[in-house]
Amino acid sequence: MAVSKVLTDIHCHILPGIDDGAKDPDMSGALLLSEKQQGVSKILFTPHYYADEISVDGFIHRRQDALERMQGTIERLELKTALGAEVRMQEELIGMDLRPLRMGDTPYLLLEFPFLSGTYPLWGEMIVDQLLDQGIRPLFAHIDRYDYFMNGRERLEHFREMGCIFQVNADSVVSRHRSPAVFELMKDGFVHVLGSDAHSPEKRPVHLKSALEKVESKMGSGMAAFLTENADAVFQGEEVDPFRKPPRKKILGLF
Ligand SMILES: [Fe+2]
Repeated sequence: MAVSKVLTDIHCHILPGIDDGAKDPDMSGALLLSEKQQGVSKILFTPHYYADEISVDGFIHRRQDALERMQGTIERLELKTALGAEVRMQEELIGMDLRPLRMGDTPYLLLEFPFLSGTYPLWGEMIVDQLLDQGIRPLFAHIDRYDYFMNGRERLEHFREMGCIFQVNADSVVSRHRSPAVFELMKDGFVHVLGSDAHSPEKRPVHLKSALEKVESKMGSGMAAFLTENADAVFQGEEVDPFRKPPRKKILGLF
């Protein structure tokens, strides 16, 4: 297995009792252990942030409390962690200072587009502009979950030109039905990072290792390394070039 043994998860709902992810420290502990067993050594905690439900300060306070409940386990498992948020795109964000919701000390912010209505938000671009004006690099969460992105490359192309980068969920890579479309996106350079988006051992477990192994077998070890390096670059706050093309799989040495 050539997949790197040092993995980074930049999207998960592992902190206890703060969103629809892990309910309690036992469940959080099981997910952290699963991350460790899969070779993950760095984790960005990204609980959901809904601007119509809680203030930024209130969220940060709750998130810190949840982190402190898991601090002992994090140290025991020798994990390096940082705090972020999965910020739901909604009108309430307009005019807010969103810098406190960045991923750790990095310029990146995990931005979740709405999907319940299935329609693309007309004010989406306004919020992306606002983030960029605040020096924030939007990282779009699980683009694999939206028909309006999967069926509309021109939207992704447009946002990529603005400097945005895109994440896909590991379980979509593992899925037999969803993975072909994801691999097409990867081939065209629209997937910069994978994330587990883990919620619970049952509902959405950590699938990073098996996802990267599948990427390696279908798309080549260069693609698996590209995704792994980019996840670590996000964690470290280093530049991820939205236009850097992942290496193509070698076929009989022709490429
Ligand atoms: Fe999520």
